[in-house]
Formats: sequence, structure tokens, C-alpha cells
Amino acid sequence: MSTDTIEVKSGLEGVVAFASEIAEPDKDGGALRYRGVDIEDLVGQVPYEKVWGLLVDGSFDPGLPPAEPHPLTVRSGDPRVDVQSALAMLAPEWGIPPLLDLTDEEARDALARASVLALSFVAQSARGLGKPWVPQADVDQATSIPERFLIRWRGEANPDHVKAIDAYWISAAEHGMNASTFTARVVASTGADPVAALSSAVGALSGPLHGGAPSRVLKMLDEVEARGDADAWVKDALDAGERLMGFGHRVYRAEDPRARVLRRTAKEIGSTRFEVAEALERAALAELRARKPDRVLATNVEFWSAVVLDTAEVPADLFTSMFTCARVAGWSAHILEQKREAKLIRPSAKYVGPGPRSVADVS
Ligand code: ACO
Repeated sequence: MSTDTIEVKSGLEGVVAFASEIAEPDKDGGALRYRGVDIEDLVGQVPYEKVWGLLVDGSFDPGLPPAEPHPLTVRSGDPRVDVQSALAMLAPEWGIPPLLDLTDEEARDALARASVLALSFVAQSARGLGKPWVPQADVDQATSIPERFLIRWRGEANPDHVKAIDAYWISAAEHGMNASTFTARVVASTGADPVAALSSAVGALSGPLHGGAPSRVLKMLDEVEARGDADAWVKDALDAGERLMGFGHRVYRAEDPRARVLRRTAKEIGSTRFEVAEALERAALAELRARKPDRVLATNVEFWSAVVLDTAEVPADLFTSMFTCARVAGWSAHILEQKREAKLIRPSAKYVGPGPRSVADVS
């Protein structure tokens, strides 16, 4: 075939690369279902550790094991770097062979242990290198994984903060095909060890175009609060050509279902920012509807996740690592699905460089 006729799908947009039983957002209906179960029914009813099980195994039991199988050695104090490098080192430390040499059960077990460890690494790294570690006996008092996370980080766990983190982790646990999940599947497709696939996905998520920056939403809320008039603030921002952070989505043409779930959580945990966030949301949706009548610009996950995480006193520079904690569930599910597919991912490129030439032609 002549290369002239080959169409390049930049950014792989519109390319359907896999058939998956895990999840794919319902972009027109504004719903997100994990193996058929709506996240609205999961949040508040099923804890994160069981949702991990639903995504990975298709059932709530056994879910994630409660305790870390490994002593934690945090290295840099930067949670993103610590979790990526710690995961990369697990294969030699635990003697995990390549996926090609593992049964599905062995791979699943390694992913479960690595997932629990990833959360603990983030918590311990967030605590900071200078502080003494929380005694293991205190951590072991926890009755859920988010509670364990908070105790390891802060030495205590406020129940509203546990609820906030549980809701956020469940809503962000999986979102069909995206850059980090694709990365995890590419690495898994080579037969590499399963934690190498997890580690690579953490690297992909670290980019601001994927891991997001809900901290920009907090800045907006501060400005609206200081101004005391959400309508006027929104009009001025749009007149100045700014984009409103936390609105619009590449995939959804309806409200992002995660925004809906997290708005409910923000209200339930009594977020002090709830009122101003709701006023801003109302003003923004009305103004965007008036200015862009042909386009559905609704609230996206970043808007309400910023409010929920802020209420749980998670600093903005930890938001991407909190996303990692959530997404280890989806990545693990996709790594196993890819293992079963047993097909090396190897796309092609259209060559558009110089034609054949000699060594002497290269200066
Ligand atoms: N505020 C104001 N106008 C907007 C917004 C917004 N948040 N989002 C889109 N628009 C406008 C654009 O200016 C554009 O107008 P034009 O046609 O007059 O140029 C039109 O709507 C279409 O914009 P696109 O960028 O083509 O829309 P797309 O769906 O590709 O973009 C995106 C999605 C990038 C999320 C966009 O809505 C945006 O920039 N939002 C703000 C940033 C944000 O919230 N990011 C987090 C997304 S959630 C996540 O990634 C996990």
C-alpha cells in the first residue's frame, strides 16, 4: 500500500484498540459503570477495597488485602517519584517473574499486594521524611484501606476525611481507555512483570495533561469567595477569554458522573466550600449555556474532586498521587485483561522523513 493513502490518527483519537469488559464511560448518558455497576451505587455503599475487587476480579470478595506485605522504605519524600520507583523495584525484591511466566492467579496476587503497597507509599511519603513513622500497631487499628492510609499519613483518621477519600478513590478508580491505562496495557502486552506495568502507568499519569490539576479549581473558588459575586466573576473571566477550570470534557457530552457523585459527597461531609462551589457551578453553567448553546459544557470530575480533597485536608500538590491511589484498581484490571488477551501491542507509523539517500548526503 502506498503510504500516501495511510491516514494517521493523531493522538490515536477515535481508534478502538481493545474490547474490554471493565468499563468505558457512557459519554452521552453521563454515566460510569464498573463491570456494569453504576459508580453512583458504589460510592457510600461499597468500600474502595471491594471496588478494587469488582474491577479486577468481577466480584467484591476478596478485594484488596488490608495490610502491606512489605516494610516501607520511602526514599525521596516526593510521593509520585517514591511510588513509581518503589513499584519498579518490587519485581526484584519480591522475585516476581514476567507476566508470561505467571498464572492469572499469581499475577492478580502480585497486583493486589503492589496496589496496597502503592497506597501506603503515598501515605508515608506524604507524612514527610523528617517525621517519625506512625507505629504499625496504630496503623493496624484501621478498619478500611482509606482509614489505614490516613492513619499512616497523619497518625489519625477523621471519619469525614475517610469518607471523602473513599468516595474520591472509587470515582477515580477506572475510566476506560486513557493514556496511563493504555501505557499499562502496552507494558503488560510485552510480557513484562505486572508491577513494571503499574510503575509505567504512574509515570504516564504524572503529566499535567492527564493527572490533572484540580488545584486550579481551588484558586478559582478563592477568587469567587473574595469577590462575593459568582455571576460577575464568571462573566469577567469568560469575557477575558479564560477557560473555567472544572468545566467541559473531551469525552462526556453530559454531566461527568463523577462530578455528580463527588458533589453529593462534598455536601454530606459538610465541606465549608460547598456553598461557594455550588454558586460558581450554577453561574458557570448558565453563562456557558448562554454563550455556547450548541455545546454541552458541564461540570467535570476536577471541579468537585478539588472540593472533596480539600475538605479532607489533602494539599493540592498531593492530588496527582491521590489519583494514583485510586487508579491502581483500574490499571490492575487492565493489566490482567491484557495478559489474557496475550497480544503484543505494536502499532505502526507512517514514515514522512527523507527519501533514500547516501551517507555522503548527510552533513
Ligand atoms: N470554559 C470556557 N470555555 C470552554 C471550556 C471551559 N472550561 N471548555 C471548553 N470551552 C469552549 C472552548 O473555548 C471552545 O470554544 P470555541 O469553539 O469558541 O473555541 C469550545 O468550548 C470547545 O472547546 P474544546 O477545547 O474544543 O473542547 P474539548 O472538549 O476538546 O476540551 C477540555 C475539553 C480540554 C476539558 C476543556 O473543556 C477545558 O479546557 N476545560 C477546562 C480545564 C479542565 O477542567 N480540565 C479538566 C478536564 S477533566 C480531566 O481531564 C480528568
